[in-house]
Amino acid sequence: MPHDSQAIEAFLADAQKAANVILETVQNDGFIHIFSHLDADGITAAGVIGRALFRLDARFRIRITQWVDEKIIGEIIADKPELVILTDFGSGYLDLINEKIPDFKVVILDHHQAAGTNQNPNITQVNPHMHGMDGATDVSGSGVAYFAARAMDKRNVDSAPIALVGALGDMQDRYDQRKLGSLNALIVEDAVNAKLVSVEKDLTFFGRETRPIHRTLASTTNPFLPGISGEEDKSLAFLSSLNIPLKDGDRWRALRDLTAEEKKRLCSALADYLLSKGLHYEIANLIGHIYILNTEEPWTPLRDAREFAVVLNSTGRMERPSLGIAVCMGDRESGLDEANKALEDYRKSINKYLIWVWEKPERLRELENIYVVNGEDFVSEKIIGTISSILVSGLPNVEKPLIAYANVPGEGLAKLSSRSTALGVNKGINLGVAMRLAAEPLGGKGGGHNIAAGGQVPLDKIDDFVTAVNELVGRQLKGEKLEEDDHKA
Ligand code: C5P
Ligand code: C5P
Ligand code: ZN
Repeated sequence: MPHDSQAIEAFLADAQKAANVILETVQNDGFIHIFSHLDADGITAAGVIGRALFRLDARFRIRITQWVDEKIIGEIIADKPELVILTDFGSGYLDLINEKIPDFKVVILDHHQAAGTNQNPNITQVNPHMHGMDGATDVSGSGVAYFAARAMDKRNVDSAPIALVGALGDMQDRYDQRKLGSLNALIVEDAVNAKLVSVEKDLTFFGRETRPIHRTLASTTNPFLPGISGEEDKSLAFLSSLNIPLKDGDRWRALRDLTAEEKKRLCSALADYLLSKGLHYEIANLIGHIYILNTEEPWTPLRDAREFAVVLNSTGRMERPSLGIAVCMGDRESGLDEANKALEDYRKSINKYLIWVWEKPERLRELENIYVVNGEDFVSEKIIGTISSILVSGLPNVEKPLIAYANVPGEGLAKLSSRSTALGVNKGINLGVAMRLAAEPLGGKGGGHNIAAGGQVPLDKIDDFVTAVNELVGRQLKGEKLEEDDHKA
């Protein structure tokens, strides 16, 4: 839905306020600590701010983490930076900040649903939810960071491409035909005007720049193609049956090498295939908008914004986020080589985890209103979110959200990660609210977006937590607005 210009103006005015606080700190030669979330959106958000500060020769440090906790607060108290910038998280931690570091200057550039409201003049918060826009679809953490950076200095428009990489990493292409809309569309406009990005309509399969076509097809999970996703030999057979040559001489052909006629043939065969599997709503996901980074080398993963996002995501989730930051800051040499290695490892881990989950029925259970995946000690708590995203699109009941969890080594905690389909959200599911309300009474924490949310609870409370979320989601599906009972929302 297009948003009225008033909401956008108000949001941009907040971005300008944040920019002013940052500029003032730089002018006073203050030290700035940036903390950001470890996925592609968080890494690009930190990269956007890092580039802006680097340009000003400012003193700053970037740290990528999965969440803000007492340890992070302890670091802030010990180091006493003149300014703390939180990107791609922060709005969920207003209480913690107000309780522990109320006198620190803090800028929050976030797009998650807020827990609590901000009355502290030391905290400057920019968040689309404060102006009636949806942080799951209209702008991501990197986009919020981009608007602040652009307000600091017009030259920062050159960060528009990586801001879009963050939005696509967060799967915000939820407007018609996988288009970026609302505030994200303004970033697209900047990037296109600066000739940094081109937008095309094409098959949206992952790997269009870099992969042999049968591998592209096999590795796609959005749309999920049951019987083809994850199965290269089946994908090969499927393409052969369509008489689409896989090779051009000795060279494997990539999606970008297919002729318009071949693409059309492939597309209609896939539509028939999805239909035969009862996945008609996925057909709309076959064709969509492609965001191409003009300044990146063709045939490399950075050329396609969605592929770029996965490279960054892998660096964060494989615990090497500094590589992702380096790539965002412009490294195309050793940082990129290492990031590509992290990507290989990330892929192997995902495959290993998916096979493991499907091995035993108790690892993926169906309750009345939710699916539950128990990753035990096996699935990395850093990758459980990715597993959750992949699994939710391939389950029989498309309205049921999935709650996955894995143990955090040595902390006695379960890391939670939930995903809904758009259909579930339309039926009233708001996972951010359900996860928070289920976790908090058990001494845990939860939050996020309506469609995707995370959190953590003590491991010995996990069964109570699952029971509570199952019940809360059930109430949401009956039309109850739980946040109205919740005085903090
Ligand atoms: O922390 P953050 O907001 O960056 O992460 C958002 C998460 O929600 C991502 O893992 C993304 O895949 C998921 N998401 C989703 N569908 C959307 C929006 C986000 O699955 N429409
Ligand atoms: O970790 P995961 O990818 O499942 O998180 C889904 C979404 O929920 C992300 O946007 C994440 O930043 C958010 N989240 C949150 N508060 C938490 C945990 C996760 O807002 N305590
Ligand atoms: Zn984000």
